[in-house]
Amino acid sequence: MSGVYFHIPFCKQLCHYCAFHKSISLQAKDDILECLKLELKLRKDYLGDTSLNTIYFGGGTPSVYQPEEIESLIDEVTKYFTIDANAEITLEANPDDLTENYLKELLKTRVNRLSVGIQSFHDEDLILMNRRHTGKEAFDAIRRAQSFGFDNISVDQIYGVPGLSMKKWKENLDLVFDLNVQHISSYHLMFDPNTIFTNKLEKGQLVEMDEEESFEQFNYLIDEARKHGFIHYEISNFSKEGYISKHNSSYWKQKKYLGIGPSAHSYNLEQREWNIAHNYKYIKAIREGECFSEKEELSEFDRFNDFVLTSLRTYWGMDLELVRKDFGEELYQHCITKSKKYLLFDHIRQEENCIILNDKGVFVSNDIMSDFFWIEEE
Ligand SMILES: C[S@@+](CC[C@H](N)C(=O)[O-])C[C@H]1O[C@@H](n2cnc3c(N)ncnc32)[C@H](O)[C@@H]1O
Ligand code: SF4
Repeated sequence: MSGVYFHIPFCKQLCHYCAFHKSISLQAKDDILECLKLELKLRKDYLGDTSLNTIYFGGGTPSVYQPEEIESLIDEVTKYFTIDANAEITLEANPDDLTENYLKELLKTRVNRLSVGIQSFHDEDLILMNRRHTGKEAFDAIRRAQSFGFDNISVDQIYGVPGLSMKKWKENLDLVFDLNVQHISSYHLMFDPNTIFTNKLEKGQLVEMDEEESFEQFNYLIDEARKHGFIHYEISNFSKEGYISKHNSSYWKQKKYLGIGPSAHSYNLEQREWNIAHNYKYIKAIREGECFSEKEELSEFDRFNDFVLTSLRTYWGMDLELVRKDFGEELYQHCITKSKKYLLFDHIRQEENCIILNDKGVFVSNDIMSDFFWIEEE
């Protein structure tokens, strides 16, 4: 089973922390919609003979398109792929796009999961981030979606944001739990290159939260999420029973996916590809019948490092017997040595053949994963 991802490269306003590819001019909206369909046709064989269990509209802001335009993309997918009866079809949406009218129309489509960027319920944080909604508008948007019958909703939040005190973070979480959503993605703020936040940080206009404080926010999040019946199934992702995101899981479980649209990534177990992150160059290439993408053939060691990166992020962990079977004795022994070290540091636990990061390990997961990587000697 595989997935199709559509990257919708538009936003009505630029959030100051975000480095995802997008344009705030919506002028090319119709051209992009046409080219997404053309690209799908051009690359319909990329995944081989497989059915789809996920379709994901991500961005940017997919909700800049009307529901019937989103449905027309799903129609296009059905021309080339068999979609499983219980496929997960997600639309990322900004809260202020989820008006009554939009939701009413969206109900007529095959979208069955919403992922809504809340970030914070505190207006001063939202202003700092340059979001285009208030906390109350975000809260009301989720309630409205629920009242229209959407029963698989995920919300995005960001912690570790300058000025987000523990008190405010607790209030944010209380409101999220109050909403009774099925899934939460909680990200630690990243200072990504080429963002206003990073620029301000460099100029000393913004001060990064110290690690101890953001660790406290993370710990509070995982404790509270558990108490409220959420499964912490990946570093930043929490779900109620039965609502683990199939789309996210296909990234972490090494399944194939086809990424359509500017900047979208694709993976077919042997090769990784990424499309040009430029709307007009993308449109030109697709209209000329070409895909403007870069490719990377994956060596055995690249595949191993990918396996480390994806499996250690999750609560299923890394299966050491699978390492031995797929990557051989040398890499297996390498993993055993590293595992002993992190068992001693109390950063991981072992369950049968699998090693799994514990709460302490999850917070320093980047360091642990890099240490497990196999670096080829020059
Ligand atoms: C690509 S956005 C798309 C969602 C949608 N456009 C919205 O903003 O509501 C997905 C999520 O990534 C998260 N995100 C983006 N940049 C981030 C950063 N630098 N640090 C932490 N989280 C980030 C935000 O929580 C955001 O909702
Ligand atoms: S967080 Fe969402 S709305 Fe904000 S710039 Fe990024 S993609 Fe656009």
